[in-house]
Amino acid sequence: MTDFDPLVFSGIKPSGNLHLGNYLGAITRFVEMQKTHNCIYCVVDLHAVTTWQEPAELTRRTREVTAGFLAAGVDPEHSIIFNQSQVHQHAELAWMFNCVARMGWLNRMTQFKEKAGKDRENASVGLFAYPNLMAADILAYKATHVPVGEDQKQHLELSRDIAQKFNNDFGEAIAASGHGDTFFPLPEPLIGGPAPRVMSLRDGSRKMSSSDASDYARINLTDDADAIARKIRKAKTDPEPLPDEIGGLAERPEAANLVGIYAALADHTKEQVLADFAGAPFSTFKPALADLAVAKIAPAAEEMRRLLDDPMHIDSVLRGGAARASEIAAPVLNDVKRIIGFIS
Ligand code: TRP
Repeated sequence: MTDFDPLVFSGIKPSGNLHLGNYLGAITRFVEMQKTHNCIYCVVDLHAVTTWQEPAELTRRTREVTAGFLAAGVDPEHSIIFNQSQVHQHAELAWMFNCVARMGWLNRMTQFKEKAGKDRENASVGLFAYPNLMAADILAYKATHVPVGEDQKQHLELSRDIAQKFNNDFGEAIAASGHGDTFFPLPEPLIGGPAPRVMSLRDGSRKMSSSDASDYARINLTDDADAIARKIRKAKTDPEPLPDEIGGLAERPEAANLVGIYAALADHTKEQVLADFAGAPFSTFKPALADLAVAKIAPAAEEMRRLLDDPMHIDSVLRGGAARASEIAAPVLNDVKRIIGFIS
């Protein structure tokens, strides 16, 4: 097995408003990881168009996700930030992976089943092949570590299967090209950690999502202080006061969610939050949470609005990132083509 330098890759789809779940669950983690790793963060616009996107909205949201990265502290001088469609190697490698991955593997993907729903016949081919493109995103850079949510674990396993099958199928050509016996690393998912899974404010059993019909289910990063406070005040809860230990949150998904959000925003453990609020009714806890959320999110939201006022600057950050990304991906794709036997 060849050793690969640790490299982090992750992506966010610009298909909805950026919300607190993206922020706490992904972006703040991306910021943290810059301290210990080389990181590549991608706005995955090719993935977004696997379901219908209004063109002008897609452009706006691509800039919004980029602004979210920058406002939260992803440093474009150090990390690479770019949008997927500007680096053609993603789509190109995805095609090769369409020919490596098996129908049976993709047929098992639960996210496709959920997203396509009952109307499978009418889902785009891209939605079905989505995980192959995700594998290409990661492997075009030979990235080794991939911070993702629990819901992406199965896609990461598929990426590993693709890498492994490529390494096996082309073993001789890989060795002949001087790459030892392993061309692609098997990328590791980084799941969980301190980042909470942020749930809907209306239903504690569902993930906070930009596609939820009710805007009260989520806190958007562009919400102003009034909207944030109002949504927290109206968040679904139960009539009981807060318990004094974690066990008391079992079977209380909405209460557990709000405590988790408080803990993440305050950078405390849930135990610490409960120690401070044991026995408090929601009429006390919610205003405290609203104040905290406004204090923590409003500055980032303000910075996002400032950045979004200058789309030319955002676009130039993306172009600069795409140029750096291409420098890494281009030689990998050249090797892949040679290994497969294409004349170049
Ligand atoms: N599928 C991921 C999601 O929906 C987004 C994504 C696309 C991604 N390509 C990736 C995440 C590569 C990590 C690595 O959240």
